[in-house]
Amino acid sequence: MDVNQNITIKRVSSGKRSRERLKTLLTPAKKRGSSQYDTNNTPMADIQPAEYCSDHEDLFGAYDSILEDSSLLAKLDSRETENAHSSSENKPDTHQGAGFTSLRSSRTTSANQLCEGVLTDSILDALEEESFTDLPASQLEFQEILKNTKNLIVNTAVDKTSTPLRDFPKRTESDITQDAAVNEVYRHALKPNVRKSMSDRLKRTMLSNAAAPFSVSRSVGQKEAVVSEEISVALQAMKTVSSQTTDLGPFFGLPTKVKELLHKLKGIKILYDWQETCLNLDCVQRRKNLIFSLPTSGGKTLVAEILILKELLCRKKDCLFILPYVSLVQEKVRGLASFGLELNFMVEEYAGSKGKFPPVRRRTYKSLFIATIEKAHSLVNSLIETNRLDNLGLVVVDELHMLGDGARGAIIEMTLAKLLYMSKTTHIIGMSATLGNIKDIQTFLNAENYTNDFRPIQLKEYVKLKDTIFEVDPKEEECFKLSRSLNYKYSSGMQKMDPDHIIALVTEVIPTHSCLVFCPTKKNCENVASMICKYLKEDFLRHREAEKSTLLRELRDSGNGNMCPVLRRTVPFGIAYHHSGLTTAERKLVEEAYSSGVLCLLTCTSTLAAGVNLPARRVILRSPFIATEFLKISQYKQMVGRAGRAGIDTAGESILILQEKEKKMAKSLVCAPVENCYSNLMHDDGKGILSLILSLIGLNITTSFVQLKDFLSGTLLSVQETQLCVKKSLWDSALECVEVLKEKGLVTVEGAAQDVTLKVTRLGKATYKGSVDLTYSGLLYSDLSKGLEGLLLNSYLHLLYLVTPYDLISQCKPEWMVYLRQFTMLSASEQNISAAVGVPESFVARKAAGQTVKKNIDMLAVTRMYLAMVLFSLLKETNLWSVAEKFHLSRGFIQTLLSSASAFCSCVLHFTEELEEFWPYKALLSELTRRLTYCVQSEFIPLMEVAGVMESRAKQLYNAGYKTLAHLANADPSVLSKTIDNLYKKQANQIVAAAKMLLNEKASALQEEVDDLLMMPLDLPSNTTVDLT
Ligand SMILES: Nc1ncnc2c1ncn2[C@@H]1O[C@H](COP(=O)(O)OP(=O)(O)OP(=O)(O)O)[C@@H](O)[C@H]1O
Ligand SMILES: [Mg+2]
Repeated sequence: MDVNQNITIKRVSSGKRSRERLKTLLTPAKKRGSSQYDTNNTPMADIQPAEYCSDHEDLFGAYDSILEDSSLLAKLDSRETENAHSSSENKPDTHQGAGFTSLRSSRTTSANQLCEGVLTDSILDALEEESFTDLPASQLEFQEILKNTKNLIVNTAVDKTSTPLRDFPKRTESDITQDAAVNEVYRHALKPNVRKSMSDRLKRTMLSNAAAPFSVSRSVGQKEAVVSEEISVALQAMKTVSSQTTDLGPFFGLPTKVKELLHKLKGIKILYDWQETCLNLDCVQRRKNLIFSLPTSGGKTLVAEILILKELLCRKKDCLFILPYVSLVQEKVRGLASFGLELNFMVEEYAGSKGKFPPVRRRTYKSLFIATIEKAHSLVNSLIETNRLDNLGLVVVDELHMLGDGARGAIIEMTLAKLLYMSKTTHIIGMSATLGNIKDIQTFLNAENYTNDFRPIQLKEYVKLKDTIFEVDPKEEECFKLSRSLNYKYSSGMQKMDPDHIIALVTEVIPTHSCLVFCPTKKNCENVASMICKYLKEDFLRHREAEKSTLLRELRDSGNGNMCPVLRRTVPFGIAYHHSGLTTAERKLVEEAYSSGVLCLLTCTSTLAAGVNLPARRVILRSPFIATEFLKISQYKQMVGRAGRAGIDTAGESILILQEKEKKMAKSLVCAPVENCYSNLMHDDGKGILSLILSLIGLNITTSFVQLKDFLSGTLLSVQETQLCVKKSLWDSALECVEVLKEKGLVTVEGAAQDVTLKVTRLGKATYKGSVDLTYSGLLYSDLSKGLEGLLLNSYLHLLYLVTPYDLISQCKPEWMVYLRQFTMLSASEQNISAAVGVPESFVARKAAGQTVKKNIDMLAVTRMYLAMVLFSLLKETNLWSVAEKFHLSRGFIQTLLSSASAFCSCVLHFTEELEEFWPYKALLSELTRRLTYCVQSEFIPLMEVAGVMESRAKQLYNAGYKTLAHLANADPSVLSKTIDNLYKKQANQIVAAAKMLLNEKASALQEEVDDLLMMPLDLPSNTTVDLT
């Protein structure tokens, strides 16, 4: 629903009021503080009176110095007397008469009005009070129960005020008796949380007073303003003191509720010994930066999450959790949303084109940003730019060894170096299972290191040579210890098809247990999956048959009736392949089915090892190669580390299939320590350091050479300078970078040798703000400028051309016949666009006819237009499969093109935002980003905004009657999992929690906006002050 429709804003008319006063009238502080998560607003939350007593309240209770302020108490007394007096003078319509803002829904019931003066939720209530008449029938009963409970609580709230209430409809005696009975019930239920202390009553009194609307004489109004001001100041002081209270409970300083939630939501009852030791480390208590390195599946995430909760709840600071892939970010957002809802913090997704820069400024709630590497960098930049970095208390980097991973590693390094340089209070934690040279990273991060070789499920590593299995044992001289001979009966045909005995190996575990087979190439994944199925017994078909046929149906639906022939053959056997050639929807379905045991075997590429959390009883490595490259030790460790599922398996095992000639190399693979991790700032001709220096100058972090040198001395590259900067020193390279940036017109260098000032140009600023690759920024600028001269907006084609990623051009070779066919299907004006960007029909026609073209044509533009036409088709048809077929491209490539285009579109949007001349693009590109991000019929978009909800799931939900975010946020997960095919209870819980979180986040952002709008400027000229005398 459109929240704004329910907001009527009227300006306060009775002279100047303090901004706190104004704010209080609109949205009383207490209620705002607890509103989003209390029972009124999250109807799905357990309706427990305990929720009504927020953390703030508890904290307030512990602070009572205000009681010693007799003058304030006296003022309060007089204020109460005045209130009582004015209440007898003022009649029911004073609500309106006072001209104060009502943010309530027009549908607000009288019962709600009744408590408005006490605890008002404004926008949030309005959102919740939308009557879900169109809610699926299965949910209506649930809503009814909810409403009744809510009414009870609303009535109880009335009982909580100590200030006489005005403006309320006359209440009959029976009403009062009824209320008294209900109140008695609730008073009883609320007992443990209702504070009977004087300070509590005082607080309630103050809040109620501050919120109570009335019209009074000017002098009374002025006096009231003074009292109000003081109340606000007092409350603020209390808040500050409370927020410094760090020890909130017995569970590592956290409330016991956290422990309960870990049990309820994650099934974790007790911490492993190492986890407990680590959390109690002195350096952790002192918030020193920390790296913890433990084997895969060691349980590192839990420690990081407990530290995040401490930061959010005890230190009241925002946190940033950096994960390497979008899928992991989405998984984490879904997993932590319930914690956010229960513990009152926001979980915000920063992945793909999601995430606001700078983030929404939230006064009431702390945020946990869960971000990909790239988004985390932009987020930190935006916090530095807006001077808000101090709000970021903790940054956690998962898979810290990614520092050594090409361009992405360089981005992690830039982010961390900026944090280290700019904030003395932001705590950094890094986790990894495969870090060789921890010392270097420790020096870089100025961090302590915690290491332990704990693994909850023992991992047994084996290699297979011919018919024999050897156990890996580094203590043995040969590294390999004979374990057993493989027992199998192969026909000669089978021996030919499966010389490596993969079928014998997998059938030892499937279908009862799960198995992953890592293959060197994508094609090999598909072949191995097909080959295994060919020789499996029919029994396999009967294992979880019904669920497998549902999966097949869903796969078909996700492809709008199309289905991969390999999957069609393999899924009935419980087998599938998993690599980047799948569409996102297929991948998600395959992952979910594997997690729930419907599929028992996946053949996959190495990306699965890091991309998703899909462990297996047995992991088989088909060969020690990825494509033609011999495996790195860290890659091997990540792959075999998937073996053994905590809480499910008692053991995990890995088998590496070797050929005789690979034996020697394999020894160092399985027995040697992991490789070192090196800085990647110099990777790809120093692209990393170039863009680092540009953003440092742009963000005013370094405006002189001295500062720049100082900054660079704090990078990992500097720690490893002797190893990495062989030809030239780091500083010489940096000076060269400044020259290059100057030549490209991205920075200016003013002043003499020792005293230069480094400044960013407009183009430079747009480049780093849009995270645009420096190689393309000039080209992007000229393309966008040219575009403005004749921007054609009667179709999406022109805009799509402008946001087609440059770096994908080299990966596509147009088929000329296809190009021509698609070209001729464009409208005349669309063909004109093509000609305008340098791709005339005559050229395409000649190419299709196999003729040579002498004319000088920019082939980059030609291929880019081809890709733009693919995107254009996608937006029109929203069917990845048919577009792939039409353009003779693989669906995996189309999927990559689509996600890269949506990410690049949001980059171009940020780029244009910095350049005044590109103003028309702003509005156009934000809508286009949204279209590209979801690329579905528009009615599914609100559902797909929820982390991890794909098109096919959105369709199912929509067809079952869950049409909006509010429907999903208010759904009962058990009903949902019963109504929706193949939606397990746990997934339903997570979807509903994520939807609730998103709804809360949106509502709270609107609330903050309203507060900002109505805030009285501190610097308002004094001549507007009303003369009191
Ligand atoms: N104390 C615990 N009790 C039971 N299970 C736990 C405990 N701690 C963690 N786990 C579970 O162990 C599994 C692996 O943990 P986690 O994902 O944190 O491993 P990790 O150390 O990050 O490994 P990797 O390096 O592979 O990412 C998870 O399913 C997690 O829920
Ligand atoms: Mg992990």
